[in-house]
Amino acid sequence: MEPIFADHASAVDVRVRRLTLDDLRDCLLLAIDRQWLPEEAKWRLLFEVGEVYGIDDPAGGLAGTVVLTRYGATLAAVSMVLVASRHGRRGLGRRLMEHVLARAGQATVFLTATEYGRGLYEKVGFETIGKVVTHTGRLSLQPEDFKHSGVRPAHEGDVAAAVALDAHASGAPREKVITRLFTFAERLRVVERDNEIVGFGAAWRNIDTVVVGPVVAGDTATARALVTELVSDAHGQVRLDLDTRHAELTAWAASRGLSPAFSTALMVRNGPLPGARDHLFAPVMVALG
Ligand SMILES: CC(C)(COP(=O)(O)OP(=O)(O)OC[C@H]1O[C@@H](n2cnc3c(N)ncnc32)[C@H](O)[C@@H]1OP(=O)(O)O)[C@@H](O)C(=O)NCCC(=O)NCCS
Repeated sequence: MEPIFADHASAVDVRVRRLTLDDLRDCLLLAIDRQWLPEEAKWRLLFEVGEVYGIDDPAGGLAGTVVLTRYGATLAAVSMVLVASRHGRRGLGRRLMEHVLARAGQATVFLTATEYGRGLYEKVGFETIGKVVTHTGRLSLQPEDFKHSGVRPAHEGDVAAAVALDAHASGAPREKVITRLFTFAERLRVVERDNEIVGFGAAWRNIDTVVVGPVVAGDTATARALVTELVSDAHGQVRLDLDTRHAELTAWAASRGLSPAFSTALMVRNGPLPGARDHLFAPVMVALG
């Protein structure tokens, strides 16, 4: 019998469709098939702020997924590139990537790649521009970490300032994601000095881990103050994704008990990335930048 997806040539004709929340369960099953965690809260957010696409497996469920999250017309993130192990290396990954890249048009597109995905992304025009190290563990904060001023819980009235700070750092309009964080995140903090919001950060729960992100600040001391207040009484494991450019914050996180768990390559197509990237100390999540 012919394999369901025969080869690379026939994959060109395979239908990619826009998925809905009705497909969430199959997305989670596909993730499990590839030994990824079934991160339901994260997928739900991606369905809200991004476009989730997939390929149906004629035998039931999904054969592949990809998420495109657009920030205006000039910047977009790609994530959740998954092909069921039973259908690997037949061109479905490439088909999914070409589908979202066509939709992204002339935008600068970025993603963070594991070693498994990197070869595919290079083939469709992505270049590696950096490295992101995921740090995990339990933070043991020191008394001096709390010697900072101006950090307070964020409220509805801070949305506009947070959106503006993020737009400066990321170089693109991300109000949909940033506004949604005000209900999605478990904890939100802003730094206010001289009646001006100069930094903000969030922490959200992914299964049993508290993910710190985003952290937007003008300097490392402010970023550290935000992380401290975001995780000060976090229960369980903490995760912090840090670009290797942020060496000072990385050293501090290590001195407080976080360890490198794995790393991914930051890749871009039609780069460079816009914005004052040094101010983006941690992404909302690697799937969104
Ligand atoms: C990465 C993944 C999506 C690739 O999907 P796929 O359907 O097997 O890939 P394709 O068959 O479309 O391959 C596309 C091209 O990339 C190449 N490629 C695929 N996987 C590769 C790998 N691990 N290393 C090097 N090249 C690779 C193929 O040779 C192919 O090249 P060609 O089109 O010139 O022949 C799939 O292996 C997967 O889901 N892995 C687990 C989840 C994961 O790690 N996703 C990436 C997260 S960043």
